[in-house]
Parts: sequence; C-alpha cells; structure tokens
Amino acid sequence: MDINCSKEELHLFERISKAAELLNVSCFVIGGFVRDKLLDRPTKDIDIVCTGDGIALALAVSDTFKHKPQVNFFKNFGTAQFRVDSLDIEFVGARKESYLPESRKPEVEPGTIEDDQLRRDFTINALAVSLNKENYGKLIDPFNGVSDLGQKIIRTPLGPDITFSDDPLRMMRAIRFATQLGFTIVDDVFEAIKRNKERIRIISQERITDELNKIMASKKPSVGYDLLFRCGLLKEFFPQLTDLSGVEIVEGKGHKDNFYHTLQVVDNTATKSDDLWLRWAALLHDIGKPATKRYEEGHGWTFHGHEVVGERMVPKIFRHLKLPQNEHMKYVAKLVLLHLRPISLTKEDITDSAMRRLLFDAGEQIDDLMILCESDITSKNKQKVQRYLENFELVKERLREVEESDKIRNWQPPISGDQIMAIFNLTPSREVGVLKTAIREAILDGIIPNNYDDAYRLLIEKAAELNLKPV
Ligand code: CTP
Repeated sequence: MDINCSKEELHLFERISKAAELLNVSCFVIGGFVRDKLLDRPTKDIDIVCTGDGIALALAVSDTFKHKPQVNFFKNFGTAQFRVDSLDIEFVGARKESYLPESRKPEVEPGTIEDDQLRRDFTINALAVSLNKENYGKLIDPFNGVSDLGQKIIRTPLGPDITFSDDPLRMMRAIRFATQLGFTIVDDVFEAIKRNKERIRIISQERITDELNKIMASKKPSVGYDLLFRCGLLKEFFPQLTDLSGVEIVEGKGHKDNFYHTLQVVDNTATKSDDLWLRWAALLHDIGKPATKRYEEGHGWTFHGHEVVGERMVPKIFRHLKLPQNEHMKYVAKLVLLHLRPISLTKEDITDSAMRRLLFDAGEQIDDLMILCESDITSKNKQKVQRYLENFELVKERLREVEESDKIRNWQPPISGDQIMAIFNLTPSREVGVLKTAIREAILDGIIPNNYDDAYRLLIEKAAELNLKPV
C-alpha cells in the first residue's frame, strides 16, 4: 500500500478488492481518505469509486460479513453507504461529465477512473489508491496531487471556472481546506472564485454554513474569513460581517478597522478555547458597531450601545445563516451583550458590588465571557496591550476572590417569589417582582448580607412602603 493504513482498514480493502474482482469491476479508494493519510491526519470516512455499479459493489461487500452491515443507498445518485465499526464507507460508480456547449447542465455517464478524478474538486482530493489485483495499493495521481500536497497548494484538476461552475460550493471548500490545512490557493483558482462568487447563491445556506463552521473550528479561523472577504464571497451571504470593514477618517481621526479587529479577536479566542459558540460570539461581538457609529465633534468616534444592538442582531443573523435557534444562539447573544462589562471594571475603582453584579449577570458564562473580553484587547501598540492585560489580570483575580466569598454564580436570593407571595398573601403581581428585585439589588450592592434574616427585615421595610403587611 502506498498509504499507511490500520489493520482494520486493510482487512476492509481486501474484502472490497475480492468483491470487485468477482463482479469484474475495477475499484479504488479515493478523495479525502487518501489525502488525509498522506498528510497523517485522522480520517474515518472512506470513499470507494468503481468502474461500474457502486450500489451493486456495496451490497456485494456487505454480503461478505457475518453480521452484514445495513446498506443505505440512493438510486438517483448511484451511491451506497454502510458502516463497519468506526468506519463509514461510501461507494459510487466512476462518472464522466460532458458539458453540452449550449447548456451548463452536465450529462453524467459512466467513465474511467481518470474521468472521475478529473471531475473532482482539487488535485489533492483527486488522489486514488488501486484495490485491483494487477496494481493493488498503488497510488494513482494523474494531476500531481502529491506534489501539490508537498507544496501546500490548492489547485483544480480542470480549469477552475469549470470546476466551480460544476459545483459552486467548491469555492467555499477551497477556502475551508486552505484554512484547515494551512495551504495556499493558487492565483488563478482564487481569481476564478472572484469571478464566480455570485454562483454561490444557488447553494443552500446550510451547506455554506457547514463550511463556515469548519473554518471556525480551525486553528486560525481568520485565514478563512480574510480569504472569504477578499474574494467577495463573504459579502454574498454575510453582509453584516463585511459591513465592519473599512476605516473612516474625520478631522484627521480614524477608528480601527473593525473587520480585521474582529478577526484578531476570533483568533485570540481560538487559542484559548475550542468551543464553536464562543468563537461565534467573538465573531459577532462588535456586529452592532456599523449601526451605532457616530463621530462626535471634539471627541472622536463612538459606538454607543453597540453591544445592545449587536445582541438584537444575533437571532436575525442566526436565522439567516441557518444556525440553530436554540440555547447556543441565546449564549452568543448574551456574550455579545455583556462583552464590554469585564473590561469596564479595569477603568474604575473596582468595587465588590460591581464584581458581584457581573458574576450575577454572566452566571455560568462568566469564564467564557472573560476569555472573550481578554481576546478583545487588541492594538498595534504592544505596550498598551500589555498594560490592559495586566489590569485585566487584576480584575480576574478580584473576581475569583468575590466569587469565592460570595458564591454569586448561579446564586438565588435567600427569599424566593413564592415565599414573598406566601408572606403577604399575594397572587403573582407587580409587587412580588418589585420586592424580589429590591432584595436582590440590596445584596448585590452589599447593602445587606446574603442571608434570610437580613433579607426578611429588608422585605418587611420595602413592603411597608407599598402598604403591605405580612399575614
Ligand atoms: N468532492 C468534490 N466536490 C465536492 C465535494 C466533494 O469533488 N463539492 C470529492 C472530493 O474528491 C472529496 C470527496 O468528494 O475528497 C469526498 O468529499 P467530502 O467527504 O465532502 O470531503 P473530504 O475531501 O473527505 O473532506 P472532509 O471530510 O474534510 O470534508
């Protein structure tokens, strides 16, 4: 074998090889599996292509197992799939596409392995390994994919306009692979993406967002976002993000380019956490800035309230990008709303009550919020960043102390709404809310200690102001 396989994989390939021989078809392992083996990356998805009926081969291979795996197949596409142990195996017949000059619609007909390789997306994804007796285990590389792997470049087997026209999602895939693998997209391929960017509109948002999430999960997501921005694709499906770009200058005063600042914040977050949603919060933390940007004479640029506007934009963006409308969305919105709070504590005398309030408002998300906020400290001036980071360390330390002594995270005030209703014989009403808030605020502000007796005394006092007496 020209690629390094596990015992389990080798056994499987032998089975496939024998089944194909009996059916009198040639077959090959192809695509991402071969690429990832050569790059020494983990991979579980195996694509098999054969010169003949992929479904028939899948069924024949499945039949060789004592416990036959269930074969799922899609007649329309001529593909079949099954799982054995942790491996996911997909079978397809080799195809050739010919474009009729008067239409861009391809005609699909059976082809050779080389025809099939030619119509794949990138040379690094068109590598195949033979499973046939005459050259079992041999790497078949008609488009110099191995050399491209070595040079870390992304290139298409055909002219890139044809490759992208065949499936415009491949423009996203090119950028995703460049980000994941740290590869460079060759110039003529990148130029073709610029030319064909509008074709992305025919691709479903779910598939685009899938690629976006893979970019987001990469080590340095900014690489992908920068490429998406520069080729014009990003504007096609995410204009709110590209609206952050650019610098305006009035009276000689400019502001930071919020697009590139945002990318830096995403990268900083990515060095501290693998959490996809925290990275989304980083990407969207300043999304409200364009809508709130003002130039105040004598003062400079302001973005007052951008965190509130940003929080409101999150559900719309999630809906538009077909991201989940669930607790992940709420989490992102909450972090966007709170992203300025920790840093504001470095600028004033840090009171315990400000700390308690932040702990209370952030709740379970306090650690993630601190990661986001720390990642938000960016500047070209290294000394400035250093100074801010040192101050931020102090806030973190004080926060730990307050949390330790007051246990505010996930804290519930000592008298609940139900208890207030019972004490004054009230039904759910505005008064219950007013009294509950009064207790919570007094404790967070440090006016009364966090215990039942002190809270009860305050409750009676506040209730008297509302003409309420305990029953
Ligand atoms: N492929 C293609 N065009 C696409 C999608 C896939 O030519 N739009 C081909 C490539 O040869 C690719 C193979 O199909 O290697 C399998 O596709 P897929 O499983 O989506 O991607 P992988 O390359 O395996 O990479 P990953 O698992 O990281 O998505």
